[in-house]
Amino acid sequence: MTARARVLTEAGTPTVEAPLELVEPSGDLVRVRLTASGVCHSDLRVAAGEWAAPLPMVLGHEGAGVVEAVGPDVRTLRPGDHVALSWYAQCGRCRQCRQGRAWLCTGTQSTSHLLPDGRTSLRDAQGAPVHAFLGLGTFAEATVVPAAAAVAIPADVPARIAALIGCAVTTGVGAVLNTAAVRAGDSAVVVGCGGVGQSILLGLALVGAGPIIAIDLSDDRLAHARTLGATHLLRGDDPDLVDHVAAITGGGADHAFEAIGRAETITLLPSLVGRGGQAVLVGMPADGVRASIDPFDLADAGKRVLGCNYGSSVADVDFPRIAQLYRSGRLPLDALVGVVRPLDELDDAFSDLAGVVGLRTILDLTA
Ligand SMILES: NC(=O)c1ccc[n+]([C@@H]2O[C@H](COP(=O)([O-])OP(=O)(O)OC[C@H]3O[C@@H](n4cnc5c(N)ncnc54)[C@H](O)[C@@H]3O)[C@@H](O)[C@H]2O)c1
Ligand SMILES: [Zn+2]
Ligand SMILES: [Zn+2]
Repeated sequence: MTARARVLTEAGTPTVEAPLELVEPSGDLVRVRLTASGVCHSDLRVAAGEWAAPLPMVLGHEGAGVVEAVGPDVRTLRPGDHVALSWYAQCGRCRQCRQGRAWLCTGTQSTSHLLPDGRTSLRDAQGAPVHAFLGLGTFAEATVVPAAAAVAIPADVPARIAALIGCAVTTGVGAVLNTAAVRAGDSAVVVGCGGVGQSILLGLALVGAGPIIAIDLSDDRLAHARTLGATHLLRGDDPDLVDHVAAITGGGADHAFEAIGRAETITLLPSLVGRGGQAVLVGMPADGVRASIDPFDLADAGKRVLGCNYGSSVADVDFPRIAQLYRSGRLPLDALVGVVRPLDELDDAFSDLAGVVGLRTILDLTA
């Protein structure tokens, strides 16, 4: 089967449209007709050459669709099921998976952008392999993924919302619920209010955190953060940021989340939390970026720095929970949706993301 896709052939250059051949859904593979994909800053990291990746590649890892065909070993899904895709298909066998920490799986091939058997899921018209980003490659009409990467979602959840559950929402809400285990009444700071930071804000509002301080360089993003539950807004270039946060929270926040992936803001993060507080690193920097810490402050004030991959989430546990919170009105995820574009406007979506224009772009893959 062939599908139309946007292919990155060289970092820093526009993507090109190409018809690609998909592997047969044999074994435990599933073919998904994609309906929507969000455009995440992690896609832009690869497109801009900030993360090394094997090219050519179809980017996109925040996607949703409908199962079209399943391999003979698939027990969990059948054609017609609506799914959100996970960019970290757990192997189910490694020590991390057996301990219930699928987000740290060491047996996955997703991070090599391959199927579990080591093949690429895509080939070009000449038969040459094309990688699918994180094993998904959602900037396309269809994809073939292991069953572990496709999680059934109720059909009444709109495709654009199911897509966002695939990355930004699970990462951001999971950072609050799972990684940091924020409790009602805890104070929190969110540094960077893009798609991931906005999801952190919704998670904080969900658990009843407060005060909730949003920090960004964009006044539009700050105004939007207020509608998501932020009680205080600060500009990232404010030279007195640390003092303001300390004044609002009474000595520093209980939790601070970095959702940008910049050395400066990562370095700043521990100074925004108070004694016994925790700094949660959600943003993922470009290859080679290093940030410094103040070890005396961390030790003296009993502060903790936590890494957060995929919101410390298990896709088949957390996707349905988040979908249910959306359906019940407790997670207003529609507030994250920005412009909806057809697939051939992917590069415009990248420009908007780089320039902090609008909210999260959704590609309508049925258009
Ligand atoms: N940990 C994970 O599993 C995971 C998952 C998804 C994305 N990410 C990472 O999260 C980060 C954010 O992704 P996104 O899609 O939300 O990005 P985004 O581009 O939508 O948002 C980034 C935001 O940071 C703001 N910003 C930039 N510099 C700033 C500064 N100095 N001070 C304050 N605000 C500043 C921008 O205005 C923007 O609102 C990226 O590094 C991405 O790779 C991590
Ligand atoms: Zn992402
Ligand atoms: Zn594993």
